Amino acid sequence: MCSWANKLTAYIDNANLLLQKSDRNGAAIETAKAAELLFVEAKKAANAATKKKLTLRASQLLETSLLLRDEIKSKRTPANSQPQKTQILSQRNQQEKSKNSNDENDPPVFSRGSTLTFADVAGLDEVKSTLMQRVVLPFRFPDKLLIYGLTGGGGMLFYGPPGTGKTLLARAVAGELGLPFYLIKSSEILSQYYGQSTKNLAALFEQARNEPDGACIFFDEIDSLAKRRTDDMHGATLQLLTQLLQELDGVGGRDGRLVFLAATNTPWDLDDAILRPPRFCEKCYVPLPDEPARRAMFEIGLKKCIVDADLNFSELVEISEGLSGADIINICERAKLIPFTEAIQTGVDRPVNANDFKKAMQNIKPSVNKESLKKYENW
Ligand SMILES: Nc1ncnc2c1ncn2[C@@H]1O[C@H](COP(=O)(O)OP(=O)(O)OP(=O)(O)O)[C@@H](O)[C@H]1O
Ligand SMILES: [Mg+2]
Repeated sequence: MCSWANKLTAYIDNANLLLQKSDRNGAAIETAKAAELLFVEAKKAANAATKKKLTLRASQLLETSLLLRDEIKSKRTPANSQPQKTQILSQRNQQEKSKNSNDENDPPVFSRGSTLTFADVAGLDEVKSTLMQRVVLPFRFPDKLLIYGLTGGGGMLFYGPPGTGKTLLARAVAGELGLPFYLIKSSEILSQYYGQSTKNLAALFEQARNEPDGACIFFDEIDSLAKRRTDDMHGATLQLLTQLLQELDGVGGRDGRLVFLAATNTPWDLDDAILRPPRFCEKCYVPLPDEPARRAMFEIGLKKCIVDADLNFSELVEISEGLSGADIINICERAKLIPFTEAIQTGVDRPVNANDFKKAMQNIKPSVNKESLKKYENW
């Protein structure tokens, strides 16, 4: 990641940390710094699309900062006791907020930004090109869709083994389109209180539809929200599935500015209705990485680290066959921890080397077996 992107992440992380500590003023200042940084980078950008994307994101951050300030003001003014809705910066922060919230009427806020693009996703060229054709371009050029009598819309389902980059891809789509990213896990929707889950789902769609430029909604582990219907299914689960189907049906017409993505490790458990147009009718298999993708992943994992000249990348790529992207990034982290720990003890820095990788790869087993892979390939 370039240095300004690192700075941006640091500002946003600080803001989230401060929000968690209920320091809204501090969070507003950090968010404003992030916005300023992005405005400066947008000015410098030579490419018009990048300029537009950065400016959009900067404006969103600035708005968040202003909202945070407004909230501070309104809290200080007893006459104005209605808290304003604040666009939260991160999902993590929101989870904390909803856990700690005493006000049941305070709707959860689901969105966050994404600065990732397809360039951050190693390999998966076929998936990326399908996404470009089916999701990114139709969203960017709605007028052209009309000329060709295309309707656009429809969601995309990613399926495949764990750790292969499904969530990463979804973030990258949001980043490519400069849209707020709604990462929805079933734990945020499902509630033990009867009827509350459907209210949560309605709140999510309402928020997303109110986004001025649209939004990218990603249902992670959609199998827990849309399991195949059975005769003995609980009434509330059935009600939630029906509502989800209805909300998704809005895509393309009423909700043309919403992009729907979903992921699952168990596509065979999904209710058939969720896979029919205009719902998640496009399915994309996200496989384990091939050789070039594994090489790119080792490069990503070691990007910011000094590497021994003798480290043989081709050998790493070869012995990591069958591992997922998440496994490879994890191995890189484990390997880098070895010289790091030594350096703390000895005060001498050294590059990460082949021996560190040998140790890091001990006891690492592929998280998916051949039988499961066949099941995905045949689905
Ligand atoms: N194609 C990839 N390119 C770069 N990094 C990757 C890739 N795939 C996985 N990773 C790394 O692994 C981490 C986990 O990936 P991600 O969460 O996207 O997997 P997933 O397919 O959503 O897994 P799960 O099915 O368990 O939800 C990423 O944050 C990233 O560090
Ligand atoms: Mg995931």
